[in-house]
Amino acid sequence: MATLAINGGEPVRTAGFPTWPTFDPADLEAFETIYESGQWGVGGTRVPEFAQQFAKFQGANYGICVNSGTSALYIALKAAGVCPGDEVITTPYTFQATVVAILMAHAVPVFVDTATDSFLLDPSKVEAAITEKTKAILPVHIAGYPADMDALIDIANRHNLKIVEDCAQAHGAEWRGRGVGSWGHFGCFSFQSSKNLCAGEGGIVLINDRELYERAYALHNCGRTLPDAEFGEAEPFGGNFRMTEWQAGLLLSRLTRLEAETNYRHKNMRWLDGWFGEIPGIKVTPLDPRATRGGCHGYKAIFDSEEFEGISRETFLRAMRAEGIPMGYWYTTPMYRATFLASNLFGQDLNYDGVQCPETEKICQTGLSLSQNVLMASEEDIEDIIKAAIKIRRNVAELKSETS
Ligand SMILES: Cc1ncc(COP(=O)(O)O)c(C=O)c1O
Repeated sequence: MATLAINGGEPVRTAGFPTWPTFDPADLEAFETIYESGQWGVGGTRVPEFAQQFAKFQGANYGICVNSGTSALYIALKAAGVCPGDEVITTPYTFQATVVAILMAHAVPVFVDTATDSFLLDPSKVEAAITEKTKAILPVHIAGYPADMDALIDIANRHNLKIVEDCAQAHGAEWRGRGVGSWGHFGCFSFQSSKNLCAGEGGIVLINDRELYERAYALHNCGRTLPDAEFGEAEPFGGNFRMTEWQAGLLLSRLTRLEAETNYRHKNMRWLDGWFGEIPGIKVTPLDPRATRGGCHGYKAIFDSEEFEGISRETFLRAMRAEGIPMGYWYTTPMYRATFLASNLFGQDLNYDGVQCPETEKICQTGLSLSQNVLMASEEDIEDIIKAAIKIRRNVAELKSETS
């Protein structure tokens, strides 16, 4: 008789996992207050208040609230002085918005491979990609796992480059005790619906340097400079990338819960690492020891088919889902193979035919992921994830017959 649920056996669980977003009456109250104030946009107090609070939360001096994470990246690149034809070094294991923001600045994305068995840009390969056109390095703290900021800052300093951190998935993540987004020249976050801190849409650029802050501020606000600007620009320019009071009000309310939620996800992530590390065929990808807290936008591991008795990742995942565990994977194609890159939409003449990043190619085929709402689950729920993986591992012979 079959044991595995995929073959008709009893599943480990039938109940769902926590859903996202979470709800709280305080969020509703925030909306009501804004509605009654009649200040729904420019001139309101919530946008500057949230900018200040979130910058402080991540350890940066200044914040500029914008309408999306993509806008945050675009504004950061422009404020960094990235001009048409300049090169920006980034990782091919990311969401397309990272790359689209570079294209929007009419710059050229240069892809550098991820580190072995990691989902993060490999600093040891960055220097070889620097040319006289390189203006910035754009690491992505994917799923809230911080990239190696020490090594990247060292490279940027030696080559006079700007660092734009893509923290769209990394709210609450810390590198050596201080929040990501406060290490580079710019830290860019998204508040889109799925993110750990969300308001439907939205973003923020975090900055430490006053002059860069003033430049980015004008860029997001139709060229208007700060009332107390110290560094006047001859001809300030910009578009309207502003956030509304609705978003800032909701974010202020939800920010009060982010610390506890991040610690909770982090605890579950560590627990999963401990257990998955005991299962042959599942390779854990723990945080860098210098990353004192994960943003935990997702849980990541690597599936080793050979070690798992030749079962494919897809078969394993189908078996997990049959057991009631919503495990999946994220990116399956390195960004340099995205077809939109060849379409010359932004006037860049791009050709990535010769680009090969073997480590990213590998993790696109072997990566495993759980999303952040799953990391909000109870201890019993997390135990079920482990139970399901162990059950599949113990009964792998059944899967072999299932696939043959
Ligand atoms: C890695 C990464 N960068 C940038 C973005 C862009 O953020 P937004 O969707 O708010 O524009 C996202 C959003 O999904 C992302 O995951």
